[in-house]
Amino acid sequence: MSSDLIIAQLSDPHVLEPGAVEFVDNNAMLRLVVESLNAEAVQPTVVLGTGDLTCWGRERQYQELADILAPLNAPFLAMVGNHDDRSFMRETFPDTPWADAEHASWVHEFDGITLIGLDSTSPGRHGPTFDADRQAWLENALATASSPVILAMHHPPFESGIDWMDADGALGRNELRQTISGSPAIVLRILSGHLHRPIVTTFAGVTASVCPATTYHVALDLEPAAKPRVVRDPRGYQLHLISDANVLTHTRYIDTGEAPFDPEWND
Ligand SMILES: [Fe+2]
Ligand SMILES: [Fe+2]
Repeated sequence: MSSDLIIAQLSDPHVLEPGAVEFVDNNAMLRLVVESLNAEAVQPTVVLGTGDLTCWGRERQYQELADILAPLNAPFLAMVGNHDDRSFMRETFPDTPWADAEHASWVHEFDGITLIGLDSTSPGRHGPTFDADRQAWLENALATASSPVILAMHHPPFESGIDWMDADGALGRNELRQTISGSPAIVLRILSGHLHRPIVTTFAGVTASVCPATTYHVALDLEPAAKPRVVRDPRGYQLHLISDANVLTHTRYIDTGEAPFDPEWND
């Protein structure tokens, strides 16, 4: 099986200043991701970073992020998360085709696929935003897409059932649903981050997935009013293999501590 396009997705590395550690060594984990991506036998066409690339949006953290990503073989497309700073993001990733707008959204056309990076953040706000400005921008991006669309946004457009992560609400969820449903574009997938654990559902009739974080995960606690807790679940990234208007997703774990081996099966 060969793919026309492979989008590698990494999410929520929360890069810190050099030497700083937060629950896990965020910076070391992202270095492992870069090493692993470079070692992929079939190289991704592009690496998509779905936001929270730094932990606190500080200039020194963007310098460290740039240092860690520098050895990456594949081109990198950056997206803003609620922990990021739009100005530093635009400066650090000048090759990302940022829209000339206050929000840091963008469109990148591959041969046969249109990748839309929708900025779902508002400065100072933890939860998602989809306001009239972005609705108009997305309607236009979908209407003018020359090929089937993959829509990426840092915040997933759905509720996860993990109360404390859902608590900040979803401004404009219905409007986003209507924008996608009412668009002439074929939307193949919605890719998100923010929830720091792998999740799949549907939204507006489209498969919507959340990539595992490269750093700590949000604890899976579906109790109402669950406390904010994190967990060191296996971390990794995803490879989205796209061919014939189909998106097939694999997850690569980076901290299993073990390379593939030939098993000796017992009869
Ligand atoms: Fe995050
Ligand atoms: Fe986030």
